[in-house]
Amino acid sequence: MCGIVGYLGTKNAAEVIVDGLSKLEYRGYDSAGIAVCSEGGLEIRKFKGRLAVLAEDIEKNEMKGNLGIGHTRWATHGEPSDTNSHPHFNKDKTIAVVHNGIIENYMELKEELMADGVEFLSQTDTEVIPHLVDKYYEGNLLDAVYKTVERLRGAYALGVVCKDAPDELVAVRKDSPLIAGIGEGENFVASDIPALLKYTRKVYFLENGEVVHIKGTDLKIYDAERNPVEKEIFDVTWDVEAASKGGFDCFMAKEIHEQPEGIKNTLERRLDESGKIVLDSIKMKKEDLEKINKIYIVACGTAYHAGLLGKKALEAFLNVPVITDIASEFRYNDNFVDENSLVILVSQSGETADTLAVLRDSKAKGARILAVTNVVGSSIAREADDVFYTWAGPEIAVASTKAYTTQIVSLYMIALNFALEKGSIKEDYYMYMIEKMKTLPEGVQSILDNQDKIKEIAQKIVDKEHAFFLGRGIDYALAMEGSLKLKEVSYIHAEAFAAGELKHGTIALIEEGTPVISIATQEKLFEKMVSNMQEVTARGAYVVAIAQEHNKGVEKVADDVIYIPNSDDMLSPVMAVVPMQLLSYYVSTLRGLDVDKPRNLAKSVTVE
Ligand code: AGP
Repeated sequence: MCGIVGYLGTKNAAEVIVDGLSKLEYRGYDSAGIAVCSEGGLEIRKFKGRLAVLAEDIEKNEMKGNLGIGHTRWATHGEPSDTNSHPHFNKDKTIAVVHNGIIENYMELKEELMADGVEFLSQTDTEVIPHLVDKYYEGNLLDAVYKTVERLRGAYALGVVCKDAPDELVAVRKDSPLIAGIGEGENFVASDIPALLKYTRKVYFLENGEVVHIKGTDLKIYDAERNPVEKEIFDVTWDVEAASKGGFDCFMAKEIHEQPEGIKNTLERRLDESGKIVLDSIKMKKEDLEKINKIYIVACGTAYHAGLLGKKALEAFLNVPVITDIASEFRYNDNFVDENSLVILVSQSGETADTLAVLRDSKAKGARILAVTNVVGSSIAREADDVFYTWAGPEIAVASTKAYTTQIVSLYMIALNFALEKGSIKEDYYMYMIEKMKTLPEGVQSILDNQDKIKEIAQKIVDKEHAFFLGRGIDYALAMEGSLKLKEVSYIHAEAFAAGELKHGTIALIEEGTPVISIATQEKLFEKMVSNMQEVTARGAYVVAIAQEHNKGVEKVADDVIYIPNSDDMLSPVMAVVPMQLLSYYVSTLRGLDVDKPRNLAKSVTVE
C-alpha cells in the first residue's frame, strides 16, 4: 500500500514528512518522493528504491519550506522508477499530487488531457490528477481539487499542494485510508496513524468523499458536496509498533482482516459498466487462446495451493485438463511444455527462485507465460508475457493469507474470461459467477466478525503434537493450505489428506483426541465427508468440521463446527480458508510464538 504524509506548520516540512514516511515503511513500497513549497517555489524530489535514498539526497541538499507532501509508492500501474514515483506534477511544476489507490478511468482522462496538449511523463494512473487540477485551477486550490475529484472514478487518498498557494494543503479521501492530524500551530494528513504519533495524538478519521483544507494554522473538513463537517477528535493511545499493525497484534492478524478489502479491490476494480471483467493487463487474444493445447499452473507453497483451485476453475469453465505442479518438482521433470502451452505462474512475491526458473525454462520452450503476482515490477512480473496483479496490498507476514484468497479470485476471473472468450460457458453463468464472487468480501467479513468458536478450538488443540486436515476435491486442496498455515506458524505437525485415503493408511495415526479438521463444503461430496468424520470419530478423534450454513446436519458427526456463509461450492474455499488462517494465528499466539516471523522461514524464497 502507498503511504502519504502532508504537513503545514512551523517546522521544516521535509524533516517531518520523511520521518512520517519512515513510520509507514512497514506498508511495503518500491519508491519514495516529496514536494516542498518555499519562497523559492515548489521543489520535487523522488527516487526509486528505499526511503533512505530520498533522505540522503535531502541530507546533502536541504529542502527549505514549511509546507509539503510526501509519498512511498507500492506500484499498481507502471513499474518502480524515478519517473513513476510520486509526487506527480503538472507541466509548469506548480502543482504536486500524491495518491494512494487506483484511478479506474485514468485512460479516458489521459486521452482527454493529451488532446488538450498535455504531455505525460510516467506510466501511472496518478499523473492525470495534477494535470486536471491545473486545468481547473483559477486561483482557488480547493475549488480546483473539487472539480478534479468529480472527474475521478476509483479509489484515492490524495494530497495536493500548489506553488501559488504556499500556505494551503488540500487532501481528499475516497476508499483509500486517510487521516488528518491536529497539532499546535501545525497540521498534518497521513495514510495511517504511525506517521503522526511523534507530533500529535489528535486525529480525525476521514470518511469517503471528505476533503481536508489546511490553510495557515486552520484545518477544515468538508463533505463531497462541500458542506462543512464537524468531526470528533480521536485521541490515539496506541504506540507506534501497534499502530503500524493497524491496532492488531501482528501483521498476520492484520492481513487476515484485510482480505475483504483485498478481494473487493482485486475483483471490483476490474469490472466495467456492464459488470464484466476487464483483464486489461492480459494481452492474450482469442487466437492466442486457440493455439493453446496444454495449460499448466506452477507455483510453490500457498501459491501452489491457490493454483490447485485455479485448476478446478479452468477445468470446469474451459473443459480442458490443467496440469498443476510445485515448481521445484516441475522444473526437473519432463513436463512436455512447448510453444502450444500456457504456463500460469502464481507467486505473491514474484521472486521465488523455483517459480522464476520454471518461467525461464518454459519461455525458452516457446510457451506463453501468464503471471499472477502481488508485486508490480517483480522479476516474474517483468519476465512474463502477461501479468495479472492481485491487489491485496503488501503482505508482510511470512504466512501468506490475503495473497492466497486474492490469488484464487484472480485465477477464477482469468478462467471465466477465457471461457467466455472460448464460448465454453454461457454469458448468464459468467454473470452469475461474478455476482457470487462479489458477495465474497461480506462473506469473509461475517467469518471475521464471529471468531469465538475458533478461539475455543485453538485452546483445545494448542497442546497437540499432530493435526490432520481432511477434504475431498476442492476441499482437499483447501486442506493442504489449512495444514500449511497451522504447521508454519504453530510448529504443530499438520498434514492434509484426501479423506478417501484415510483407510489406505493414515487412519492408523488417529487416536484419542487427535484433532481432525474436516472440510465439507462441497455438496456432492458432503455425505462422503460425513462418513469419513464418523470413521475418525470412531477412533477417538476430535473432529472440527468446516461446512456451509445449510449443512446443519454436520453437527451430528463433529465435535465442533465452523459454519461459513452459503455460496457456490466453487467459491467456498475463499471463505472456508479464513477459519483455518485464524485457527493457526490463535494457536501460534497461545504458544507464544513469533507469528509474523516463524523459525527457519523467509517471506520470499529467492534461493533454491
Ligand atoms: C506461505 O504461507 C509460505 N510463506 C510459502 O509457502 C509461500 O507461499 C511460498 O514460498 C511461495 O511464495 P510466493 O507466493 O512469493 O512465490
